[in-house]
Amino acid sequence: MKLYNLKDHNEQVSFAQAVTQGLGKNQGLFFPLELPEFSLTEIDDMLNMDFVTRSAKILAAFIGDEIPQEALEARVRTAFTFPAPVSQVEGDVGCLELFHGPTLAFKDFGGRFMAQMLTAISGDKPVTILTATSGDTGAAVAHAFYGLKNVRVVILYPNGKISPLQEKLFCTLGGNIETVAVDADFDACQALVKQAFDDEELKTALGLNSANSINISRLLAQICYYFEAVAQLPQEARNQLVVSVPSGNFGDLTAGLLAKALGLPIKRFIAATNANDTVPRFLKEGEWKPNATQATLSNAMDVSQPNNWPRVEELFRRKIWRLNELGYAAVDDETTKATMRELKDKGYLSEPHAAIAYRALRDQLKPGEYGLFLGTAHPAKFKESVEDILGEPLPLPKELAERADLPLLSHHLPADFAQLRKLMMAR
Ligand SMILES: Cc1ncc(COP(=O)(O)O)c(C=O)c1O
Repeated sequence: MKLYNLKDHNEQVSFAQAVTQGLGKNQGLFFPLELPEFSLTEIDDMLNMDFVTRSAKILAAFIGDEIPQEALEARVRTAFTFPAPVSQVEGDVGCLELFHGPTLAFKDFGGRFMAQMLTAISGDKPVTILTATSGDTGAAVAHAFYGLKNVRVVILYPNGKISPLQEKLFCTLGGNIETVAVDADFDACQALVKQAFDDEELKTALGLNSANSINISRLLAQICYYFEAVAQLPQEARNQLVVSVPSGNFGDLTAGLLAKALGLPIKRFIAATNANDTVPRFLKEGEWKPNATQATLSNAMDVSQPNNWPRVEELFRRKIWRLNELGYAAVDDETTKATMRELKDKGYLSEPHAAIAYRALRDQLKPGEYGLFLGTAHPAKFKESVEDILGEPLPLPKELAERADLPLLSHHLPADFAQLRKLMMAR
């Protein structure tokens, strides 16, 4: 697969290069040159396949020229070891639960597939994964790469702005996983990562690679679970499907739109954010005016300058879709809390990110349509706030329980690139 840099279309790279480089020149995102499309019959056949076989076929449509289908299928089988079930919440609404992996969040799909691609591509060459996390990416990446030979992982996160259990999940591993609590917000962590990628000396010395949602391999993996969702729906629902995506950096929405571009029947998407509403305001008013990032209940979506938005715009442009067909909503914390209680009354236990997507969906779903919202994290990952809002204790799943009492091993830094650089070069 060839990809081009969105900031300089003349820079074109292979999938292998895009995976190892992460970003192109001037911090440009890579985007596929060809957008494959399946026929209706192919889609029907694929929807009858099992998750791994189908996912390998989807991924082969993009990268089959670089990684043969059989090898790809073996890699997918190693990465996707857990299900993505659709749980029926109401007659016309289901939740695509993406939190049944080892770190209980949707990032397990992308993180684990990326680890497979990176080791397939780089062989024995040492690499350093540098990534910023607003909560869940860190855990998924740390667990996906933990113990892999020749891979060092450095993860930056906003100090005090992720949930205590999220922190425990990835800052207690040690070994090849280094974590850095930065005294700033997520956007500042992301800016530090970008600065590191602009530093040629650092990049070459460490074999730098980013594993956040800008890495194309993660995005491609995420396409697969949209197909898995549709495969579980009855025909009537497939024909009238609206998907609501809780959005921060807009990676998940990009993947969903790529699934639609491949031919998956999705009538429309809703981009649901919290009070960090740069995109909803842009879609409403036509002006890109990011505000300062606000801390909210759905902390993993506290992003005011979403990284993947240029890819969304490019896809709309390439497919000649109209941006005004993209639904949107910004949901504040009070409404999020009320929605979590509403869902509980319907017998469905949720957490703030999924509740935002449900709210937007419930408010915008029309009669005759079927709505799917993405459950991006297990409620127990936000135990404190979920218990507080719902007023009942939540048992910890074993993935969290076994780390809850371990000591945190993080470094602690101000948002200062020179200090981060020193730490990274120290080894
Ligand atoms: C639980 C959860 N929901 C939603 C999102 C938003 O996903 P994206 O950044 O792909 O928009 C994140 C991102 O970190 C997340 O952790």
